[in-house]
Amino acid sequence: MGDARKLVEDMREYYGARAPWHDCYMGYTDNAALEELLAPIVAVVEELLSGRDVLEVACGTGNWTQVLARRAASVLATDVNETTLRRAEAKVRPAGAARFQAADAYTLEGMPGGFTGAFASDWWSHVPGSLLPGFLDSLHGRLEGGARVVFLDMLPRDHPDLTPYRHDGEGNAICRRTLPDGRVFDVVKNFPSRGDILESVTGRGESAEYHEWRELGRWLVTYTVSAPPRG
Ligand SMILES: C[S@@+](CC[C@H](N)C(=O)[O-])C[C@H]1O[C@@H](n2cnc3c(N)ncnc32)[C@H](O)[C@@H]1O
Repeated sequence: MGDARKLVEDMREYYGARAPWHDCYMGYTDNAALEELLAPIVAVVEELLSGRDVLEVACGTGNWTQVLARRAASVLATDVNETTLRRAEAKVRPAGAARFQAADAYTLEGMPGGFTGAFASDWWSHVPGSLLPGFLDSLHGRLEGGARVVFLDMLPRDHPDLTPYRHDGEGNAICRRTLPDGRVFDVVKNFPSRGDILESVTGRGESAEYHEWRELGRWLVTYTVSAPPRG
């Protein structure tokens, strides 16, 4: 688990430093760019989380927060890095359409409970395999029974930033990334199979569905959280 903790720390640092370039890197040059680029996925995400009180994990610079805010009953967007969170807050319109709070996805310390929806984009792939079950359990602990969960992430692609240069002892794929200012980081970027993803959800959620948009290089998994047993 030592290696995994180091990866978590490197990941936090990398994205904190990348905040000024994040949107450009993702191809989201303005508020409309993501919606144009990923329109079919936007429609699905909106529909799945419509009318729900949504907890967003690792919101980054808020590109998906603005999508969620349109149809959800409420959105609390969280990220461990203040640098990304402040950019998200400035981006999402109208101001006040979502709330923003710093939180580590692995503990969600300080987060209230009772959410009826959860969302994270490009987060699952960055979670070291040994930490995924704990992350899911912690997230589900903040959700009501029957809450809908949506994870969106990337399919493998031929790109230097997505191509691992090594695997660690537990099999995580590690990519080397260089920022425009020359700083170099090791970042975990896993590309789990459909089977891996559904297996991670088994026993934690119900009615899981997996979708792929190959032309857009994305996968999505959605399920509802099982209600805790009455005692
Ligand atoms: C690939 S970016 C995705 C951002 C955004 N969801 C998007 O789709 O553009 C990953 C995000 O995870 C955040 N992050 C890194 N470590 C984290 C942690 N331990 N807890 C919460 N967020 C974290 C980074 O600050 C970054 O904003």
